[in-house]
Amino acid sequence: MSDGIRVRSAEDADVEEIVALWGAAGLLRPWNDPRHDIAFARSNNHSIVLVATHDEAIVGTAMVGQDGHRGWVYYVASDPDMRRHGVGRRVMEAAERWLAEQGVWKVQLLVRSGNREAEGFYEKLGYTDTQSKCFQKVLSKPGRLPRGS
Ligand SMILES: CC(C)(COP(=O)(O)OP(=O)(O)OC[C@H]1O[C@@H](n2cnc3c(N)ncnc32)[C@H](O)[C@@H]1OP(=O)(O)O)[C@@H](O)C(=O)NCCC(=O)NCCS
Repeated sequence: MSDGIRVRSAEDADVEEIVALWGAAGLLRPWNDPRHDIAFARSNNHSIVLVATHDEAIVGTAMVGQDGHRGWVYYVASDPDMRRHGVGRRVMEAAERWLAEQGVWKVQLLVRSGNREAEGFYEKLGYTDTQSKCFQKVLSKPGRLPRGS
């Protein structure tokens, strides 16, 4: 690619770099264990962690999955030093391609209230606000990963 940005699925050796990027992008929350989230998403074939690289460095991410009904995208981030250079678009295009290959025809994502930066980005990519509220309930502590992962 002429812009030097490539998107691929995450590997074991990427984990700490991904977590560092999420930290720099303001996506870490004390109640979420990012390493567990990465391992869980990578432990089955209906979700994936994508990384965008530039000069071998990880500059973008998206965690993508499908739940048998809709596609979902989490942890979308680009390196703060590389914003507005197409990294976010590239990871989202790869996420949408991966979902389409899975047969998913509609993709959704959650944006925290007040994250105008993300709203502007998603609107530019053709996403619309569903005006829905997200309800959540914690069922247990993060579970064990499936055997072999
Ligand atoms: C949101 C985020 C991923 C965008 O990444 P990015 O690499 O800057 O995005 P891109 O450069 O690929 O932008 C794609 C398009 O959206 C536009 N865009 C990006 N941010 C925008 C904004 N805040 N408002 C309006 N348009 C925006 C770009 O101009 C570009 O348009 P173009 O392709 O027509 O030129 C990045 O700002 C980020 O990591 N934010 C912090 C983490 C976060 O909030 N993630 C979302 C969680 S829901």
